[in-house]
Formats: sequence, C-alpha cells, structure tokens
Amino acid sequence: AYLGIDLGTSGLRALLVDDAGRPLASVERALSTQHPHPGWSEQDPATWIAALEAAVAELRDTAPDFAAIRGIGVAGHMHGATLLDASDQVIRPCILWNDTRSHAEAAALDATPGLRELSGNIVFPGFTAPKLAWVRAHEPDLFARVAKVLLPAAYLNLYLTGDHVADMSDSAGTSWLDVGARDWSDTLLDAGGLRRDQMPRLVEGSAPAGQLRRDLAQAWGLGQVTVAGGAGDNAAAACGIGALAEGQGFVSLGTSGVVLAARDGYHPAPETALHTFCHAVPGRWYQMGVMLSAAGSLSWLAQMVGRKPADLVSDLGEALTAPGAVTFLPYLSGERTPHNDAAVRGAYTGLSAGTDLADMTRAVLEGVAFGLRDSAEALRATGAQLDQLFAVGGGASSRLWLRMIATALNVSLALPAGREFGAALGAARLAMVAAGADEARVMSPPQVDEVIAPDADLRAAFDDGYARFRALYPKLAG
Ligand code: XUL
Repeated sequence: AYLGIDLGTSGLRALLVDDAGRPLASVERALSTQHPHPGWSEQDPATWIAALEAAVAELRDTAPDFAAIRGIGVAGHMHGATLLDASDQVIRPCILWNDTRSHAEAAALDATPGLRELSGNIVFPGFTAPKLAWVRAHEPDLFARVAKVLLPAAYLNLYLTGDHVADMSDSAGTSWLDVGARDWSDTLLDAGGLRRDQMPRLVEGSAPAGQLRRDLAQAWGLGQVTVAGGAGDNAAAACGIGALAEGQGFVSLGTSGVVLAARDGYHPAPETALHTFCHAVPGRWYQMGVMLSAAGSLSWLAQMVGRKPADLVSDLGEALTAPGAVTFLPYLSGERTPHNDAAVRGAYTGLSAGTDLADMTRAVLEGVAFGLRDSAEALRATGAQLDQLFAVGGGASSRLWLRMIATALNVSLALPAGREFGAALGAARLAMVAAGADEARVMSPPQVDEVIAPDADLRAAFDDGYARFRALYPKLAG
C-alpha cells in the first residue's frame, strides 16, 4: 500500500491506495488560516504536523492495509515560505500563496533584468521570493536567522525523513529555480539576498527523497518506507489525472480556477502571465493559467443573497443560451493570468431595471468561463494543444457551467468517472514510482464518464461575449 498526503489550504487529506494505486481509504483534517492584517494569509506549520499525525492515526485505526505502507508522497499548497533557523525551528508563521503583502517587493524583483528569463515566470506577489524580500525589509532580525527556506510540502518531507529536500515542481514556484535547467539559480537567489545553502536539496517528485525516519516508522507501526520527492498540488493533481504529456490537461473549478496543460518541453512565456513550472516527473513541464476567483465568485454571489451556490445555478435550468447583456468581471481577489494585477477588483456591467438574480448568476458563470478562456488563449499561444481537458473541482458538478466553458474555450471537457482524489492520488502515485513502480503504468488517466462538447451553434455568440469581456478590463485597471 501507499500513502498520498495532500496538504491543502483548508485541510490536509491522507489517501491510502493499494499496490495497484486504487483508493482504499481517505481521511481529512481541517486547517485554519490566519489573516492578522488585510492581504495577509498565514498558517502555523505545527498545525500541519498535528493534522498529519491525526490523519495517520485515524487511517491506522480504520484501514487494515495501513501497516503494509511501503511509500509516502506529499503534495502541498504552493509558494508558501516556511522559515527555519539553524536547528530547524520555525521562525515565524508560514506566509501562504494567497498572501499579497509583498506586492511591492514582487514588482521590484520582476523588474530586475534577466530574472523572468531565468525563472520562466513573472515574479507574482504570491510566489516565495518576494515574501523573503518582505521579511528582509520588515523583519530583518528574523531574516538574519533564516538557515533554510522550505515550501509547505518540503516541510512535511523534513518531518518524515529528517532531511531538507524538495521536488522540482514545487520549487519552480519560488522564483529561485532555473526552471529550464531544473536547478537553483545563484543569480536568482542573489537577487533576494539568499544563498544556495539556505535551499533544500532538489529531487524529482517521483524520485526518492529519503526513508521514513526510524522513530516515526516505529511509532506508526511501519517497516521500511520510501518517501517520494512529492509535488506542488497542481503538478500532483496532474499526476493524479494522468496529465503528463502534450495534449493532456485539466480545467479546475475550485475557489480559484486553473487551466493546466502538460508539456513535453520548456516553453516559457512570462509575458502572458502563464505559470511555467517543472512537472513532478523528470523531463516534463506544465503550464497553467491561474484565475484567483472562479467558483469563489459564485460563492460570493450566493452568500450575498443568502442562497447556496448550487441552488443559484439550478435556477438557471439546463439550456445553454447566448451570453446576455449583463457582464461580470471575476476579479474579486485581483487576477494572475492574464493580467498580473493584484489591485484590480471585480465589476458588473450592463445592469438594468429589469435585471434579476438569474441574469446576475448567469453573468458570473459566463465571466468565469471567459476568464478561463484568457488562460486557454495564452496556453494556445505557447503551442499547447487544447482539444480535450478533464474537468475537476467542485464547480464541475454543474453541467450548464461546463457547457458554457466548453463553448467559450472551444474544448471538449471530459468528466472523470468515480470519486475525485486529485492531488492526494497524485502524491500516492509519486510514492509508487519512487518505490520502483513504472511511471507510464501508474500515471494513467481515469475512465471518462461523459464528454461535454462545445455548442457549435453558440460558438460565435460566445466569441462576441468574450470580445465584450476583454474590452472591459482596461477600463477597470488602475
Ligand atoms: C498555484 C497556486 C495555488 C496553490 C493552491 O500557483 O498558487 O494553486 O497551489 O494550493
């Protein structure tokens, strides 16, 4: 058996799979996030360890195959800065991916000549390097004590193995990695006053990071256990759904939205605000557009009117219609792709005295679909082939929304059969490969339940709607 851990922002999930990679049992422990100031978002790494121990204890008590675990893989929310002193003590709460305090530091780093070329990406405020620049400027005493900087998944790797080791996919989101060369860049590190010895050792996500510490193995009742390099959660989700090669990818409708395409080569395009990261397996990369408020926009509207998101959507019925007069710009939390604009905010346009809640709901779904199309267009411009994508995440339960997205993006959306295990399954698969299983055999796509094709009759109307949507951002910016 193998264990996949997904350290998510709102909870830690632990998934046990059998030797063929089939899910056996899954448990989850909630995590809380602190927002001590507007724009700040922090977690105490000790709560990750407590959640991991509690999840393991529950699995151990309830899942008979637990004792047969031979490998563990960890996926984590990306970009977080966990700062350790020389004795591996945590110096301050981890600054998370959705923390925007370092937007000025990010802009300054991003403007440094040569930096985008080496890292392959814009330095977004959510990435790790600007967080350290913020600590250096605002908490110099703490900065001076930093002996190691670990991403959240790498911090769990340290707990599991006793070693500082991180995988390529997660490390690509720091702005310190030469993403093409898959190695730390002294130039990038130097730009933020950091050194290579403050970084963890790098391994591929599907390679062994080490062995489970003896004392931990004993406490958990396990024998020899290989710990994989692991992955950032998006790369892990791609492994979980078998998106490794050109032409494979997914659309994820969570709080945030992601359009992800696996790539055989390295095709950076920072000017598009796409993210270009190493994949969790050797010799591959992936690119994704990230929209910060996807299903989050629908939740916002539902909360405003005291309804459940799913009820608002079911009020619209099943029929796909041409985009209406009301347009919604889903920039409730700013936007990454394609605008790289942390300050922009959302808007409704085209409201009239006759506008009702259904119009406003429809506009939210369309606005999110158009925002995802922005990412799809950027991906296509880099040469990514987007014909069919898997649809995952909570929002994917709405057929109407999926038909809108398929039509807006001109892609077919495949619905995976069965329950979704996402990044936790990807992490378990990385553990299997690290323990010796064959990558191509393990990382297979799920069975497809249904394919939702674009509506050919409405394609032109959605193109017009997208053109109207595109024309509105410049009026909001600044
Ligand atoms: C990716 C990103 C988020 C986090 C969420 O760039 O910031 O998807 O990984 O867990």
